[in-house]
Amino acid sequence: MKHLIMVGACYLDTILSVPHLPEEDAKLRATSLKVRRGGNCGNSLEVLQQYTSGSNLALHLVTVLPSRRSPATEQILSSFAAEGLADVDLGHCIYRDDQTEPASSYIFHNQETGSRTIVNYNGLAEMTVEEFVEVADAFQQVDADVWWHFEGRIPETTIRCIEHLRSHLPQSRVSVEVEKPKREGLRELAAQADVVFYSKTWAESEGYASAEACLTHEIAPRAFLLVNTWGARGACAMAPPSREVIQVEPAVSDAAVQIVDAIGAGDTFVAGTLYDLLCRSGDWDVKKTVRFAVDLATTKIQQYGFGGLGLKIAPPAI
Ligand code: FRU
Repeated sequence: MKHLIMVGACYLDTILSVPHLPEEDAKLRATSLKVRRGGNCGNSLEVLQQYTSGSNLALHLVTVLPSRRSPATEQILSSFAAEGLADVDLGHCIYRDDQTEPASSYIFHNQETGSRTIVNYNGLAEMTVEEFVEVADAFQQVDADVWWHFEGRIPETTIRCIEHLRSHLPQSRVSVEVEKPKREGLRELAAQADVVFYSKTWAESEGYASAEACLTHEIAPRAFLLVNTWGARGACAMAPPSREVIQVEPAVSDAAVQIVDAIGAGDTFVAGTLYDLLCRSGDWDVKKTVRFAVDLATTKIQQYGFGGLGLKIAPPAI
């Protein structure tokens, strides 16, 4: 059995569809309101669940939640229970018993452009290194087949978690997201990872005009795969020691894509890449990996939420 443990925040997303973004100090009527569980790792797991039923990959989520008895926690935990899909193990979640409110995102979905503008608030105390070490210890026996994915939210904690893995579970593989613009310490995380996911927003905030420029200039000495998503232009990848940048564009033209819900497109891309990295056996072909992830993300933005993606996009042959 292989294990994928995703470490990150879970949000409750409140999505307001608006005809256009409001002006400051204006009043605007939304056309719909939807509430669903969000958060990068939760979103990725919801996609992965659709591909891993009956496979030898076990999925786990490590996230901080409010008190076990709070309605928000119940809602978040039950969001992973859908018939016919692989189970996500939630046994390593961390609870803050003095809190009842979840981390929350308020998202304007602009119907004019398809963009999503996110304002979030997280009042839960962050996972500590000690709490992570307890989780890691539970996987000591199966070290060789464990993959740890970090959202890269609190770099100073994440770096110590990775250091713990490198010294106590040395066979583990580690991937990180370098997503949040201007967050200090993300390059240090990338330097420790086997796989790095750079986001377009982060790359642009660092002055890069393209994914190719970002991958050519960023240095992640341990990594065997670096990827950078770039919205409608798809994604680029590099598989060191080769310095060749591989570009994968969406299979459909920009004009043919009707954006319905772009929230979690990057998380869907991460899911596709991790699925391929963990479940494909035999020769690994970086272009095929990224092609699958781009197709998955392109399909995702044309539908609401993440349901049914597994039926629409066949997994690559493994
Ligand atoms: C999308 C997302 C949302 C969440 C927000 C948190 O990538 O995970 O579901 O509210 O980002 O930053």
